[in-house]
Amino acid sequence: MTNSEKYLVDRWYVAAWAHELDKGPLGRTILDEPIVFFRTEDNTVAALEDSCAHRFMPLSKGRIISGHIECPYHGLVYDKNGNCTRVPGQSKIPPSAQVRKWPVVEKFRWIWVWMGDPQKADPNMIPDFHWNDDPNWVSVGDYFYVKGSWRLFVDNLLDLSHVAFVHRSTLGTDGVTNFPVKVTQGDETVHVDRWIFNEPAPPMFQKVRDFKNQVDRWQMITYRPPSHFVIDVGCADAGTGAMDGDRSNGVTMFSNHSVTPETEKSSHYFWHHARDFRLDDRVLTQTLAQATKTAFYEDVEIIEAQQERINTARIDKPIIDINADAGVLRARRMLEGLLDSQKIN
Ligand code: FES
Ligand SMILES: [Fe+2]
Repeated sequence: MTNSEKYLVDRWYVAAWAHELDKGPLGRTILDEPIVFFRTEDNTVAALEDSCAHRFMPLSKGRIISGHIECPYHGLVYDKNGNCTRVPGQSKIPPSAQVRKWPVVEKFRWIWVWMGDPQKADPNMIPDFHWNDDPNWVSVGDYFYVKGSWRLFVDNLLDLSHVAFVHRSTLGTDGVTNFPVKVTQGDETVHVDRWIFNEPAPPMFQKVRDFKNQVDRWQMITYRPPSHFVIDVGCADAGTGAMDGDRSNGVTMFSNHSVTPETEKSSHYFWHHARDFRLDDRVLTQTLAQATKTAFYEDVEIIEAQQERINTARIDKPIIDINADAGVLRARRMLEGLLDSQKIN
């Protein structure tokens, strides 16, 4: 299968946290393509094929010299456009001494790479994750390497009924599954909203406010293909009008995720969790960082276990769907439609 049959290629993908480039070049495989990311002299980011034109040495194992990257094997040097600028021991540079480059943008503390036709790489198409660097929010986040398909994250993040089982100690309460979801669709978005009324606050919300009584909770998911998820989660004292837009008796957090395929069976999982209250409370920041890391790693363990089973499953074994899959099924249809139209074009 070609890449455009497996993945949505004309899209921006998160390749790294910006700080991951502080220590030098970073090698990361994105959509089956080995890429090296590094900072150039003007502090912008370059994304080049991570394979030297001479003898395939990964350039990511090399070093940066004045914003260019030097191959660690025989010292060929490449600029940010992938053109070789130096061959040790000779003045003439072979015309084919170059490596591929990809459009790359730094935004919202993440490094974004465009994996399709470079002519179509419009930075305005980068999905909104402003919570990650907006001064009105404090955001904590991390990266997990996952031995599981990005598609399993679509299942995971569009059906939060799993919080009652996977995240008992952090996000879950037993009542979640008793409340149905409402699924709607935008131009290239799927929205899955759930209100949970008159239930206890989940453990993570108890950490941020001492909710004495029952709460009304919300989980509002916005999915943007292929694998971007913005989730508005919160709770307020029960019956105080949160559903009508009054959140003054509650707390809101955004739990955002972007999953980039490394291959069809492995992923780069970027997430951040943002709050807009007690911004200077460092202890709370640490507490939430630890709690969210614990919670999202619980998902990683589920996904890796599923993938292991999928790898060895009988291919004729059918799967079943349940009511909680309403959002997942809508998202899959949208995704398949986009992949089909990509094959035609
Ligand atoms: S393999 Fe890179 S310079 Fe020889
Ligand atoms: Fe989860």
